[in-house]
Amino acid sequence: MDKFVIEGGHELSGRVKISGAKNSALVLMPATLLNNGLNSFTNIPEVNDIFTMIKLLKHLGVDASFDSNVLKLDTSNIISQHAPYEHVKKMRASVYVLGPLLAKYGYSKVSMPGGCAWGPRPINLHLEAMEKLGADIVLDGGDIIAKSKRLHGASINFEISSVGATGNTVMAAVLAKGESKIQNAAMEPEITNLCEFLIDMGARIEGVGTSTLLIDGVDELSSAKGEVIGDRIEAGTLLIAGALTKSKIAIEYSNIDQIDVVLSKLKDSGAKISNNNGLIEIDSRDIHPKSIDVTTAIHPGFPTDMQAQWIAYMALANGTATVADNIYTDRFSHVPELIRLGANIERVNNMAIVRGVEKLKGAKVMSTDLRASASLVLGGLAAEGTTEVLRIYHLDRGYEKIEDKLTKLGAKIKRVSTNEF
Ligand code: EPU
Repeated sequence: MDKFVIEGGHELSGRVKISGAKNSALVLMPATLLNNGLNSFTNIPEVNDIFTMIKLLKHLGVDASFDSNVLKLDTSNIISQHAPYEHVKKMRASVYVLGPLLAKYGYSKVSMPGGCAWGPRPINLHLEAMEKLGADIVLDGGDIIAKSKRLHGASINFEISSVGATGNTVMAAVLAKGESKIQNAAMEPEITNLCEFLIDMGARIEGVGTSTLLIDGVDELSSAKGEVIGDRIEAGTLLIAGALTKSKIAIEYSNIDQIDVVLSKLKDSGAKISNNNGLIEIDSRDIHPKSIDVTTAIHPGFPTDMQAQWIAYMALANGTATVADNIYTDRFSHVPELIRLGANIERVNNMAIVRGVEKLKGAKVMSTDLRASASLVLGGLAAEGTTEVLRIYHLDRGYEKIEDKLTKLGAKIKRVSTNEF
């Protein structure tokens, strides 16, 4: 078990490159199950969730090789359509194999994901959409078993915009017979990345990037090459690292339009931001940030995956900010840990009321999930003295070489192996 030991209070400087988005890679990889051939991807981040997905795909018969952020997936010899509990319990995104396996092989069996650290995360929308496309679904021994001769096109109007349900449904509909219309589809960039890859495989999809997707199913799809988009959440996290430590840093990240809302909130708080051909610079030297409220929303709103980091930022701002999460109303396990660093935060239902304090002071804190961990690292970078962030295996699921990047920016952060849990 590893922990981070952070010596806080150091100004950062320099530039780092943003990695590929793990949430894009996690939906692109299972999409290859829709063809029989050799696919390849560039810009895949080397993080543990990717290794978990590779293990699951190998279990299904995919031949995988991964080196220097290039992933090759050969789907010519699929031997199983079953994603067992041992894989799904490690990572909920395993449920992404459901749609493609069902569409391509007429059968898929996927262990039902349980709750997660911040409460229930249902998959009812995924299952209802598969049923509309013609699947028979039963739950047996904790497994979802979905069967169908060939899926047929359908009209699906999601009551909630869901990234996962949209991804699964699009992957199923591209091989269904006839036309499908998906309304209230997720517009997150990761779904656009998926649709573009599917189109390269031969899928017919219109409305990419909008909330209405029109899909004309085809009989078969061929293998393709894809590129994972930059990670907008890593980009936002590192920009906040710059703002919170009152530093000037730059990130190499070319999808600036995908973080518009985070940039505009950072600017509202007083940070100076410029973009020069994919080099985004934040300058917060000598700036005492203003408290700025945020409410999470579906894309292009403020991402729930940036909520914890924003709370860490607001902990040292001037004034009181309310940070509400409308996507995951219970996602606040970082709050008591940030309070251990001296933050003044009150949790009221799906909202954190953050009263800015003069300074944070280093302490031992515990990671509980990926983004919560990121917020604790941010808190530690700004706190006076030493902060130890325990259980950083959560961070290792989704941030590629985060301590190397922070070290490159001048942070004093060390990974230490420990028996503490
Ligand atoms: N929802 C339902 N029923 C469903 C599916 C979703 O009620 O069948 C609800 C959820 O409870 C939630 C809302 O719909 O309130 C949106 O959830 P969504 O399905 O969009 O989330 P997801 O696909 O399970 C992905 C990301 C999450 C990110 C959310 C929201 C991946 C692998 N995960 O999850 O990322 O928070 O979208 O943007 O793409 C993370 O990276 O830390 C992370 C948790």
